[in-house]
Amino acid sequence: MPSTKFAGIGFYVPEQVVTNKDLTKYMDTSDDWIRERSGIEERRYGKKHEETPTTMAAAAAKIACERAGITVEEIDFIVFATLSPDYYFPGCGVLLQRELGITNTEIGALDIRNQCSGFIYGLSVADQFIKSGMYKNILLVGAEMHSMGLDFTTRGRNVAVLFGDGAGAVVLQPTEEEGKGVLTTHLHSDGTHAEELSLLSPGSHGGYHFEDKDKFGFPTEEEAPLGEIFVYDNLLENKTYYPYMDGQLVFKKAVTKFPEVIMEALAKTGYETTDIDMLVPHQANLRIAQFVQRTLKLPDEKVYNNIMKYGNTTAASIPIALCEAWEQGKVKEGDLVCLAAFGSGFTWGSALIRW
Ligand code: UT7
Repeated sequence: MPSTKFAGIGFYVPEQVVTNKDLTKYMDTSDDWIRERSGIEERRYGKKHEETPTTMAAAAAKIACERAGITVEEIDFIVFATLSPDYYFPGCGVLLQRELGITNTEIGALDIRNQCSGFIYGLSVADQFIKSGMYKNILLVGAEMHSMGLDFTTRGRNVAVLFGDGAGAVVLQPTEEEGKGVLTTHLHSDGTHAEELSLLSPGSHGGYHFEDKDKFGFPTEEEAPLGEIFVYDNLLENKTYYPYMDGQLVFKKAVTKFPEVIMEALAKTGYETTDIDMLVPHQANLRIAQFVQRTLKLPDEKVYNNIMKYGNTTAASIPIALCEAWEQGKVKEGDLVCLAAFGSGFTWGSALIRW
C-alpha cells in the first residue's frame, strides 16, 4: 500500500497588517492584555469584497501545485477546510475548483467543517483516499476570512482579538518509499460542549433564519414581498451571528487534549517525544502551545509558532505554520513532523509525518 507524502506546500496571507493597538480603536482592550494572554502581536485582514477564503486558498494552492510540479488540471480531489466559507452553501471546495480554472469534472470536492482541527481531519480523509489508490494528487487546503464576521465591540473582545485571515495548501501524493509520508493520524470528538465555541446563526435550531420580528412566524408573500429582509429577532438581540467562546473552558481542555493526542500518535508508531524533529501545533494561543511544549519537554527549536504574526487562523494555521517552517529550513527531508490541533466541537487530532 502506498503512503501519503507532502509533495508541495504553500500559503497566503493578506497584505493588511492589523496590530493590537489598531484594535484598541474599536474595543476596550490593550496591546499588553493581548500579548500576555495569547502571544499575538498582529494579524492580517483580507480586503473586503475582493478576498475570500476561496481566493486566498487559490493563491496558496497555486504555490503548492508549483512546488509539487503539477498543473491545477492534474488535481484529482479537493478537500477544503474552513469555518468562514464564502457562502452558507455550496461549500468552498467547488468554488476553489472554479477559482483555479479547473474544468475537469471527473474530480471530487469535499468540504470539512471541523474548525481548528479541520486541516488534520482533512489530512486523515485524504490519507485514506491516497492509501486506497483512489486519488493521486489531492489538494488539501485550510482557509479562513475571520475578519468579516467578528464582533469588534468590547462585547466580542475575548474572541475578536485572537483571530486572523489566511490560507495554507498542500498537494498530497502517493509514495512507495518505505517509512515516508503520513505515518498515522488520530481523530477525536466530544460533542458535550458543542456550543462553548460556536457560531450559531444562521442555523436551523432557530426555526427560520429570517422571521417577522413581531409576528414570530414566517411572513406570507403579501406580508413580506420578495426581496425584503426580515431578521429573526433572537439572532439580532443575542448576536448569535458572532462567534461565542468560553475561553477558559477551551484553554483547559486544549492543554490536556493536545499532549494526549500527540502521545497517542507516538505510541501507535513506537516513537518517543525525543524523536520529534518538529511539532507544529494549531496556532490557537501561544500560551497553549508553550504549555504543551513544557508537558512534552520539547526544546524551543522543535516547536514552530507564528501566532504572534498571524493570530489564530483556525483551519489555515497548521498549513501556514508548516509551510513557513519548511521555507525556513526548519522542516527537512527525513524529519519526524508532528501536527496537532484542538478546537470547536470539541474535536481534536494529530498526525505524524516522515517528511
Ligand atoms: O482555536 C480555537 C480555540 N480557542 C482557543 O484555544 C482559546 C482558548 N482560550 C484562551 O486563549 C483564553 O481563554 C483567552 C485568551 C480567550 C482569554 O484569556 P483568559 O486568561 O482566559 O481571560 P478571561 O476570559 O478569564 O478574562 C479575564 C478578563 C475578564 O475581565 P474581568 O471579568 O476579570 O474583569 C475579561 O472581560 O479579561 C477580560 N478580557 C479582556 N480584556 C482586554 C477578555 N478579553 C479581553 C480583551 N482585552 N481582548
